[in-house]
Parts: sequence; C-alpha cells; structure tokens
Amino acid sequence: MNKPLDIARIPVDGDDIDTNVSSNEHFSTVLEARLSRRSLLRGGAASAATAFLGAMGLSACGGSGSDAVTAPTPPMGTTPPPVPTEKLLGFTAVAKSLADAVVVPAGYTASVLYALGDPLTAATPAFKNDGTDGDMENRAGDHHDGMEFFPLSATGAASASANDRGLLAMNHEATTDQNLASFFLHANGGTPSLPRPALEVDKEMALHGLSVVEVRRNASKWEYLKDSSFNRRVHQQTEVELSGPVRGNALVVTKYSPNGSRIRGTLNNCGTGKTPWNTYLSGEENWSGYFTRAAADDAARADKSVVALKRYGRDQGAASRHGWETGGLDDKYARWNISKKGASLDGSDDYRNEMNGMGYIVEMDAYDKTRVIKKRTALGRYAHESAAFGKVEAGKPLAVYMGDDSRNEYIFKFVSNAVWNAADATAVDRIATGDKYLDSGKLYVAKFSADGSGQWIELSITNPAIAAYTTYKFADQADVLVNARLAGDAVGATRMDRPEWCSVNPANGEIYFTLTNNSNRRVEPNGSSQAAPDAANPRVYTDMKGSTAQSGNPNGHILRVKEGVLGAAATGFTWDVYLFGAEAAAAAATVNLSGLGADQDFSSPDGLAFSAATGICWFQTDDGAYTDVSNCMMLAGVPGQVGDGRKLTLNYPRADGSTLAVDTFVGKTASSDTLKRFLVGPVGSEITGIAETPDGKALFVNIQHPGETTSSGNLADPSKYTSQWPSNAGYGAGKRPRSATIVITKNDGGRIGT
Ligand code: FEO
Ligand code: CA
Ligand code: CA
Repeated sequence: MNKPLDIARIPVDGDDIDTNVSSNEHFSTVLEARLSRRSLLRGGAASAATAFLGAMGLSACGGSGSDAVTAPTPPMGTTPPPVPTEKLLGFTAVAKSLADAVVVPAGYTASVLYALGDPLTAATPAFKNDGTDGDMENRAGDHHDGMEFFPLSATGAASASANDRGLLAMNHEATTDQNLASFFLHANGGTPSLPRPALEVDKEMALHGLSVVEVRRNASKWEYLKDSSFNRRVHQQTEVELSGPVRGNALVVTKYSPNGSRIRGTLNNCGTGKTPWNTYLSGEENWSGYFTRAAADDAARADKSVVALKRYGRDQGAASRHGWETGGLDDKYARWNISKKGASLDGSDDYRNEMNGMGYIVEMDAYDKTRVIKKRTALGRYAHESAAFGKVEAGKPLAVYMGDDSRNEYIFKFVSNAVWNAADATAVDRIATGDKYLDSGKLYVAKFSADGSGQWIELSITNPAIAAYTTYKFADQADVLVNARLAGDAVGATRMDRPEWCSVNPANGEIYFTLTNNSNRRVEPNGSSQAAPDAANPRVYTDMKGSTAQSGNPNGHILRVKEGVLGAAATGFTWDVYLFGAEAAAAAATVNLSGLGADQDFSSPDGLAFSAATGICWFQTDDGAYTDVSNCMMLAGVPGQVGDGRKLTLNYPRADGSTLAVDTFVGKTASSDTLKRFLVGPVGSEITGIAETPDGKALFVNIQHPGETTSSGNLADPSKYTSQWPSNAGYGAGKRPRSATIVITKNDGGRIGT
C-alpha cells in the first residue's frame, strides 16, 4: 500500500538518535542530594582456506615462509608498543580546512585505495559511477566505516609480521540518502516515494554490510586486488548465525528461522574490533531505522514487546529509512516490516521479531570466507560501535568494552567465562575460538560517580533490580541481553553523551571512550529525554555555528577508565576526561577545559584506536557543529593516564537563582607534544576507521560520505555537488562523490605520526 510522502523521515544524520526516555537520572540524583543539603556548589574459498592451513603447517601448499606459524597481529591496543626511537608527533600540524581534499602533514602522502563500487571479482566491470552500475554484491559497499588489517605472508598465509600484503576487512554502514532514495546510487537519483522499485532496493541492500579486500604494496604504491580469492562481500541476503544465549530464544523466532538460529545480513555496521585470536568484530549501530511498523501494531501485539520496540526507537507507525519493505512480495522485502501480521503465537509466520536479530557484535573470520559469520549475542543488543579488548592476560578472563551510541545511552563491558589460553592466539579454527570466549560470560553496564570512581553493574536476570523491574518484565537472561537498554535502565546506569568508539591504551590498559556530543544535555532537563549534567558528562553550553545556537554538549569529550586491581574482572574503576572537544577560542573556564589551541581544536570525536606500533592515540571526528570552520579531521595524541590532570567544578545557574555545581576530573592540558591535528577530510565527509600495518608505516583510514550535504535535486549538475572527491584526487570515473579507503605513508619511509 502506498504511503503518503510527508511521513516523518529520519534526519540526514541517522547517527544522532535518542530513544532513552528512561527516568534514569542517577547523577542528577546524586546532585539533587547535594542540592537538598544546600551545598549547591559543587580466499576462492578453497585456496584461501588452504593457504591458511599452510601457515599452520598443516598443508604442503602454503610453503614454509619465514613468517609461517607465527602469532597473529594483536588488535590495535592490546600489546605494549616498544618505546619509540623517533619523536612522536614530530610532524607539522595540519590547519583546519574547508578544501575538498584530504590534507595530511608535509612529508606524508595520502592515496585513494578502494572506493564505493570498486569491483571485487575479475569478472565485475569497472565502476562507471553514474548510477547505472550493477552487480553490487561483487563490489565495494558504501559508507566505509570501521576497518581492521589482517596481514598476509608472501605465500598468502595469516601472518603477524607481514607489512606489504594483507586483507582489509571493513564495515559499509549506510548510503547517502534524502527522502528514502540513496540518490548517488541511481541514474536519476532513485524513487523518493513508496513503493520503492525492487531494483533500487536490491542495489541499496547490497551496498550495506561488510567487505574483505586484499591489498598489497608494489614498490612504494599500495593497491587493492580486484581478483583476489580472499575478497568477500557480506550484505543483506547473506545468512548469518545467532550465537550465544539468545540463539533459539522465543524473541528471535521468525518465518525465516522458526528455531531462532539465523538471520539474513548484518546492518548499519559502524565501529570494529579485532580479537586476540585474529578475527574481525563489527558493531551493528542504527539498524532500528530500517524497519517499519503499522500504525495499529501496539494493539495487534498487546504484549510487552511494545515497550521494548519503543525503547529501541520503533514506535508503531514508524516509517523505515528507505522503504525496503515495499520492494515487492518477496520475503527479502517483507522482512523489513516488523508489524504483527500472522496468527501464530510464536511469530514463526511473520517478521514481528526480525528486529531482535539486529543490534549485535558480529564476528567474521576475515581470512576464510567459507566460514559463517556469527552474531555474539552475549555482548548485548544496542547501537553498537567498536568492541575493544582489555589487557589480555593468560589465565584471566577477557574483557570487551563497548558503547551504545544514542543520546543518553550506556557504556558496557563483557567479561568471558573462559580464561585466556595464549595458545588460542594461533588457533586454526578461529570461529570456534570465538564460541569459547564470546558466547558465555557476564555483561555489565557502567555507573559513574561524582568522586571519580565508578562501578560495573552486572546485567543478570538474578539481579533483584532487573528481576523486579516493572516497566518491562524480563523472562530470562536472553531477554536481558536482547533488551540490554531496558536492563541498564533498571539498574540505574549512567546516561552518557553518545558513546562511540573505545580502545585500550597498550601502555597501561586504560580504556578510552569517545562521547561524541549530546544535544539533549540540559541544566534543567525538560522531559525524560533530556539529562542533567553529571560528573562524567559535565558540560552544558551554547556554541554558535554561524547564527545558529547549538546547545547541550555540541563538541563532545573523550573519557577514560582505569580498572580496579582485578583488571578485566574488576567491578570498580576510576575515571577522568582525557580531552574535552572545543573550539580554541571557546571560554577556557567552562568549555575549552583541555586548553586546545588552533592546531588541536576539534568537535565530535568518534573513531578512536591506539597504534600497536607507536602507542599513538588516533581519533577522528564525525562533526556537524564546527563544520563552518573545518571539515572533519583526525588527530594524534600521546596520552598520559587517569588522574594526570585536575579536579574542577562547573557552576550552572538555575532559573530559581540557585547554582548547580558539577564536579569533574579533566586530564592534563594539551600541548604540542601531546596533541596535534594530522588530517582533514573532504567536504561533507566523516573520518572513520583506523588500521595499520604491523610496522606502523602504512595507515589506512576511511573517508565516509563526502558530499553528503549535496542536495539530491542537484544530482544532474556536478558543479553543484558539495564534493567531487575522490575523482578530483584522480581516482575513478564520474564526479559523484564516493566513500573510500585511503592509505597514508611517510615519504621518508618512517612510521606514521612521527
Ligand atoms: Fe556510525 Fe555512531 O557512528
Ligand atoms: Ca562554533
Ligand atoms: Ca561512529
């Protein structure tokens, strides 16, 4: 049935989502207590598999190169890097820029390597980039996001030390859209009304998901291999298994999988991670917006699922982002309508439960495309970003840190039941190793206290606050995991300023979390969707973008956590704020609390990863607040440690004349030795995804959605595109802007960031 055109569409920034209307105001509870005291201060499949077996010494075919049978490359940030011999941050900082170009420091070169639509098989034709291309399942997906590098030896084996050849595994989060259609993907801009034509929907579904692509350095130049047998695409028709406690649960029974064991696709993949056993982790983020619900679905369901759907952003009557459900009668389209349609009690005759199969950390063996991908449900279901392993120690459990990126959502930690066996670093069956460490364990949520300490609270069905929760009656532990947001509400977790990526400082094991921004932070919240400032999210201010006032915490901050003595298994921690984002000219006493200068100022930190080679903390921005002055950027930090700065108190006047005093803790003030801008991207792009070769001499970075700010009505006139990157950098056909991976090298052959 056709729908009217004027249904409310999600904003262009599909990342900025707010569904936490829980009444958790635990920090404000702390503050109110103070106020009440009047203190008021305060590979062909076969060849890839065989090649790897060769590396393990189990096949004659792989040869016995010098790097055979070596430990895998550790994920960025899990092994202490050697003490650098050269000066870190020795480069000249890059100035803020509005140019339609990737700008890197003098002495560095950035080259385009792999862009939207690039062919991944020998038979796939070159990308014309005019909206007429087909065979999207065999091309690079769109909106390149998180990314990890998996080294390959000269013989094509998994390797710890190869620096000239490897696989890039990456997320393809979304497509550039206005009014339903992903306009750059279709010849005439696509159909911006319902129903959407099947061909357009098929194309868009194919470009969402993951890709694995082989890259190689020939002489000094990096290139991707379109005919590599390792190349792989995962899209919305790829079968994926549910693994862990939710597998087989009533909440994931669908027509496609009546036993609740599988689903098609992984969706809106954003941040990434790498396991100690050398697999790829991908976080499903804003998947909720792809589903639609009928206007009277609450009454049709008449059960507790209505509460859960609302908490995850799908009220009845919600329209889907692209209208994929209207592509035709085929089941692959019907699944995007999660209304209760069937007569069954268990949901095995419709897709009422389909959305419960999205929202997980997904594990893929990048080296073996014959292996099924698994959703690791024990890590909880929410708007996932990256997944970062804490310090890996033999005989101890593994900790995985994660954030839920929506306004006022939570920070989580998963702790494995299994203790780490170092031999598993080179396990032949990497997916089985994932089963061992990621399918059983405990999920915790973070609660930050005003004294600089914090607690990890277990989300268990046996926790009385969860068992007795009245807003939503949890049936079992699987229900707690599927509805981890509601469980976080029940235990009073701290509502954060949009947790994006996290990564672990290899020098000391501290965990860094980007909190990108929060337009719903207010001194005096108006309604439950807003939250008062608290110690860990302490800023509320107004930033002007031209004549537009931006309120809340428009520039974001980077928080860091130091675990207690039990390390991974600790339930108590200390924390401070590594850096507050700000304009250099902003008030030093209330906004620019980290003392950022012109070579350091940034807004809306998002991607973040430590280099295993140099220990540099790289972070990237996905900003809308400071883009009148600069395009999005990447910075390099040499971090200190929790507690290396100072305590301060922010005083906010209230309407009644009283003062709200918020204590917080800020890290050491930035200096040119500790923080520098390294890169600025093209117009309209977000900088995201960080991966490096083991020697730290090649850095891969993704440029997502350049030209996103182009009006879809200007598609026919390239001179009106806000960006023509990367064609204006000499890469590829056509002038439509394309998301792409770049590789950065230092002209003198040195390590990146020195
Ligand atoms: Fe896809 Fe939260 O960024
Ligand atoms: Ca401004
Ligand atoms: Ca992100």
